[in-house]
Amino acid sequence: MSLIVVTGVSSGIGRATAELFAREGWTVVGTVRDPQRIEGHQWGGDVRIEQADFAEPGSGERLAVRVLERHGVPDVLVNNAATLLFGPIEDATQAEVEEVFRVNVFEPVALAMGLVPAWRERSSGLIVNVTSLGGRMAFPFFAAYNASKHALEGFSEGMWHELKAFGIRVKAVEPGFVETPIYDKAMRGESVLEQVSASYRKPVEAMIAFEANIGKRTSPGDAAREIRDAVLDESDRLRYPISAYARPLIAARRWFGEMRVMRFFHDRWMGR
Ligand SMILES: NC(=O)c1ccc[n+]([C@@H]2O[C@H](COP(=O)([O-])OP(=O)(O)OC[C@H]3O[C@@H](n4cnc5c(N)ncnc54)[C@H](OP(=O)(O)O)[C@@H]3O)[C@@H](O)[C@H]2O)c1
Repeated sequence: MSLIVVTGVSSGIGRATAELFAREGWTVVGTVRDPQRIEGHQWGGDVRIEQADFAEPGSGERLAVRVLERHGVPDVLVNNAATLLFGPIEDATQAEVEEVFRVNVFEPVALAMGLVPAWRERSSGLIVNVTSLGGRMAFPFFAAYNASKHALEGFSEGMWHELKAFGIRVKAVEPGFVETPIYDKAMRGESVLEQVSASYRKPVEAMIAFEANIGKRTSPGDAAREIRDAVLDESDRLRYPISAYARPLIAARRWFGEMRVMRFFHDRWMGR
């Protein structure tokens, strides 16, 4: 029986990933901020819940200790939990940007590093960092979130080199657009526009409209299946663009050049 840790299983891709692995016979340790959110949820298999709020400094390291003590050495860690900050970077406070980096980068990296000594001892382990298409390119008004995903990409590639000799593999899974609550939480509330400084209101409105018009999104279940395939891929491949638009957009930047693609999208995104 294999043991997998999936962070952020209260909704979206994390929940679907926990359900998929549980149905396929794995023991899943899933983390949530608020256990009430998943009370009574039927997982379809063995899912054990740990509470963790990655906005708290030290939470990643503490979670690693708890996982090892209560559940044993996991075979796989999926760093899925993340928070999205939407809006002009000029409007964002330093504290908000720091929280994005803590939740999306610092604590997930600390959690992984907390498991590395146990993995080194048994010469195996797999870290799957859920980054983003936004870890390969940036979108206006998603700068802090995109920067955090670029940082997690950088950590992933660095760790890939550093941990390979110990039999520990690292993968970065890069979703495009998946239908989950992450956008509702950050950019679809009625008050979002009201909080934006007047100078940015028009382009922010255009970006909200662009996001709302993205038609073909991947379902969380399909994204979870692509994550499962990456987990089961025994090769040393690092990057896995998954879900709607990730592969074509990354390829377009390579084929046409990043400046041409940036200029092409700029007008559409900024509405001018
Ligand atoms: N959906 C997409 O199109 C898309 C695209 C690219 C990348 N991704 C990435 O995919 C992953 C999953 O996102 P999703 O789309 O499935 O969004 P989601 O449904 O909002 O799931 C995010 C998960 O992270 C948890 N989380 C947020 N802040 C946290 C904190 N401070 N401490 C602990 N957990 C926290 C959320 O818990 P709460 O329920 O308590 O908020 C939730 O369980 C993320 O890494 C995201 O960046 C998604």
